[in-house]
Amino acid sequence: MSSSSSIPTDSTTSKTAVRVRDVTKTFGTGDGRTVALKGVDFETREGELHLVVGPSGCGKTTLLSVVAGTLDWDAGEIDVLGTRLNGMKKGAVTAFRGRHIGFIFQQFNLIPTLTCVENVSVPLLLNGVHRRQAESTAAELLQRVGLGDKGRKHPTELSGGQQQRVAIARALSHEPRLIICDEPTSALDRDTGHHIMDLLSTAARAPGRCVIIVTHDPRTYGYADRITEMEDGRVRQVLDGDALRHYVAQHA
Ligand SMILES: Nc1ncnc2c1ncn2[C@@H]1O[C@H](COP(=O)(O)OP(=O)(O)OP(=O)(O)O)[C@@H](O)[C@H]1O
Ligand SMILES: [Mg+2]
Repeated sequence: MSSSSSIPTDSTTSKTAVRVRDVTKTFGTGDGRTVALKGVDFETREGELHLVVGPSGCGKTTLLSVVAGTLDWDAGEIDVLGTRLNGMKKGAVTAFRGRHIGFIFQQFNLIPTLTCVENVSVPLLLNGVHRRQAESTAAELLQRVGLGDKGRKHPTELSGGQQQRVAIARALSHEPRLIICDEPTSALDRDTGHHIMDLLSTAARAPGRCVIIVTHDPRTYGYADRITEMEDGRVRQVLDGDALRHYVAQHA
């Protein structure tokens, strides 16, 4: 495994990219009520690849969704790239996300009526890039994720792992400062998984950027600068430095 954990993240000088303070989120009411986040504190720094791990249902996707501004939360503060999301109008959050955040959803969320090149072009078009340039960048990105020959195909013509890679190319296309990924390697074989993690590590190291990844996949742990482990709507532990190295070795 090519590990990036040997690259130091200087937490004394690097800036905070995402700060979540005491955030709660409840779904439903009455008997159907689920408290998905029970006062979560979470922090990611620029230049960092940060993994969020924990059992199914512990609140990982919910945490990513409130940070990406795609889901409202009940209480607590969220700052993303120096912008406080609390109190922002929906349209402003959408515009902020479109400019600065690339999101790889657990379910990929590709647009079935568009080809792969068109899907990857969408964030660029939304940011004012002309179609021809957007499609040329998209084709290049598809090449980088190993799908150079699939550009004209539609998502339904691809395997799950291939669709996942199109979603990754789309999230990288407009070079967002924050990349948020929900299980980016779940449908990928070993080699492709490592190739994608290499791409995401490189994206995390670019100046002023960071990557947050929810994962169940221990093959990704060696790439982490920090791991936040969640349990039942709460943060159980945050690992970096020697504790992180020990955790990675334990799970290898
Ligand atoms: N839209 C929703 N409506 C009602 N309950 C929800 C909704 N989304 C999530 N939940 C509940 O909130 C809790 C946290 O869900 P979440 O999707 O964040 O878990 P997760 O850690 O991402 O799990 P997994 O690893 O299976 O993806 C779960 O109990 C889930 O059932
Ligand atoms: Mg999830």
